[in-house]
Amino acid sequence: MALGDSLIIKSGWHRSSLFCLRLHPSPPPLTLNAPLVDIRGLTFGYGKGRPILDGVTLSIARGQVTAIMGASGGGKTTLLRLIGGQVRAQVGEVRLAAPLNRPDREPEDVGRMDLTQLYEARRRMGMLFQFGALFTDLSVFDNVAFPLREHTNLPESLVRDIVLMKLHAVGLRGARDLMPSEISGGMARRVALARAIALDPELVMYDEPFAGLDPISLGTAARLIRRLNDTMGLTSIVVSHDLDETFQIADRVIVLAHGKVAADGTPDEVRHSSDELVSQFVSARPDGPVKFHYPATDVAVDFGPPGAQSAAGTSGATGGAPR
Ligand SMILES: Nc1ncnc2c1ncn2[C@@H]1O[C@H](COP(=O)(O)OP(=O)(O)OP(=O)(O)O)[C@@H](O)[C@H]1O
Ligand SMILES: [Mg+2]
Repeated sequence: MALGDSLIIKSGWHRSSLFCLRLHPSPPPLTLNAPLVDIRGLTFGYGKGRPILDGVTLSIARGQVTAIMGASGGGKTTLLRLIGGQVRAQVGEVRLAAPLNRPDREPEDVGRMDLTQLYEARRRMGMLFQFGALFTDLSVFDNVAFPLREHTNLPESLVRDIVLMKLHAVGLRGARDLMPSEISGGMARRVALARAIALDPELVMYDEPFAGLDPISLGTAARLIRRLNDTMGLTSIVVSHDLDETFQIADRVIVLAHGKVAADGTPDEVRHSSDELVSQFVSARPDGPVKFHYPATDVAVDFGPPGAQSAAGTSGATGGAPR
């Protein structure tokens, strides 16, 4: 019996819902054009240092794949954490639109939500973490089932159907019984992806989904993100350094640099930007406004002859005593 058949028998779903099970009723069209996430004047820094994000304003359109790009350490992961409410901005807002089945509700600032609201908001988001690994002592099946068992009271038969459906969507239904140690890195990414969409989120945030993948797996993963976005009616944010693949699947590219939005447009617009910094980034030039080194004291402080430390001083950008 095909998976679709068993789904119909067990739960009464129509076959067409195989890839697009939604726990929400059909959306009213009116709110479709409003952004799902609207970020206004966002300033955030860890501790007392300089802000990582400094007055960032951008919006994430529903139904689109938005790429967030920029130099390492530029605050991309931090931006995702602000959207997910793991950290809260010092200034500005991260407005999350109400679910489509609640057009009566206004967008709410994630940074001001209490724990109950945050919990509810996070149920609407799936996250593929930058260094997020699978649980090594759980099978592929149990990894994907984990959020369902953790966050819902669904009966085990329904959990099974949903897990198999999500694994099917990433091409790994046949790998359900394998342990993470028995699958490749690329497969592990896809399992993590299936886990990220297990709760049928509206928004999926991918942090470096292509890191460490060979060119074929990379292309497959990129197309998968695009396909899932379109077939499941998702909104996707992809943080990535892989210019070619990301430009191919994104509707929109936002480049962050020096805490600000340096570019925001279609892949074509960003690719042909005349801004020096954006152009350095999209053409992957090592020299330009984006520096390779994290701010540090003068090299003489660390590597110079004895006495050079006091001559060079220790009041570099990172401050504190040299180590
Ligand atoms: N938990 C933390 N505490 C203090 N500083 C942090 C923390 N997390 C990140 N940072 C700092 O914030 C800055 C931005 O980090 P972030 O991880 O957002 O960058 P990124 O753009 O995702 O970089 P990459 O492309 O390398 O993943 C970096 O300078 C980093 O050192
Ligand atoms: Mg990061």
